[in-house]
Amino acid sequence: MLRSRIIGTGSYLPDRILTNVDLEKQMDTTDEWIRARTGIRERRIAAEGETTSDMATHAARCVVEKAGIRPSSIDLIILATATPDMAFPSSACIVQHRLGISGVAAFDISAACSGFIYGLGIADQFIRTGTVRTALVIGAERFSKILDWQDRTTCVLFGDGAGAVLLRGEEVESGILSTHLHADGTYADMLMVARKGSRNPITDELIQTEAEYLIMRGSELFKVAVKTLEEAVVEAVEANGLACEDVDLLVPHQANIRIITATAKRLGLPMEKVVVNLDRYGNTSAASIPIALDEALAEGRIRQGDHVLFEAFGGGLTWASAMVRW
Ligand code: ACO
Repeated sequence: MLRSRIIGTGSYLPDRILTNVDLEKQMDTTDEWIRARTGIRERRIAAEGETTSDMATHAARCVVEKAGIRPSSIDLIILATATPDMAFPSSACIVQHRLGISGVAAFDISAACSGFIYGLGIADQFIRTGTVRTALVIGAERFSKILDWQDRTTCVLFGDGAGAVLLRGEEVESGILSTHLHADGTYADMLMVARKGSRNPITDELIQTEAEYLIMRGSELFKVAVKTLEEAVVEAVEANGLACEDVDLLVPHQANIRIITATAKRLGLPMEKVVVNLDRYGNTSAASIPIALDEALAEGRIRQGDHVLFEAFGGGLTWASAMVRW
């Protein structure tokens, strides 16, 4: 059967570290509150002038080098981001140019924190139909630019970074077994950045208002996230005729340790089988899963034949899962 196999992973994190203790000096918050409510200790912040496409290009070059392929063999580039460099052209086109290739399809997708799995699902369909052989899927975010740094309820949560995978169509038993993509716009206003869209074109009045920044109804979102993700992981397991104990590693979106723990509990998974790095990077939105996957592979946590489950939840609302047999 023609399947999409992950032939490489790569990631990029900016050098600058912003700790909870640094934040304590800037606003009315504490390291203790942030760690207890979220699990986050520190996050990375992009350098002044460093853009989403810059970070995405670093991650893309990393995966191309590790997989040992030529950029010219890439047939499709999908970049998941809620923080593109600009409205258009897409950041994917900028990355394509920097990789020194042209002609192949390149586009951004917007599904907030679920964006990477959405990208994986779309690329998988192109590969399974034989339309493309090799696809580059990137998740990259520069959330530090869309946060209100006076708002302690949101700015402590996020970080910047990028991760990427290369998929190749092969006649194998391993690879992406399933992707499930979902959305419910009923909850669109629970998490949004209203700026610079056709509803809120840039005006003098808009600048400096909250429409410029990310707004979130955190505790409501928390409850929806826990319930939805518990259903999503069970859907992924059952769709593949597996049992929960067949999941060898869970690579969850890194939003909140309490959400991750609840999902792991639903699957009956011990935390040794769950990849957690939000303590060091915070929530990097669409970048969090490919960064976590890249680290898990580097640490030797995935062996051939393992069932690896990805899940994510984010603005839209969107949520998604992917089951991969390594
Ligand atoms: N430091 C200290 N106190 C704070 C801080 C802070 N940084 N932030 C909020 N508080 C206070 C609040 O003001 C509130 O005080 P009050 O009781 O006096 O009013 C109190 O702490 C509790 O606030 P809650 O919002 O109820 O805290 P909660 O336990 O829900 O944690 C959090 C907040 C971490 C945001 C949590 O709700 C969460 O993780 N939500 C889900 C986030 C998520 O999954 N987002 C989706 C993905 S992101 C994306 O798609 C881009």
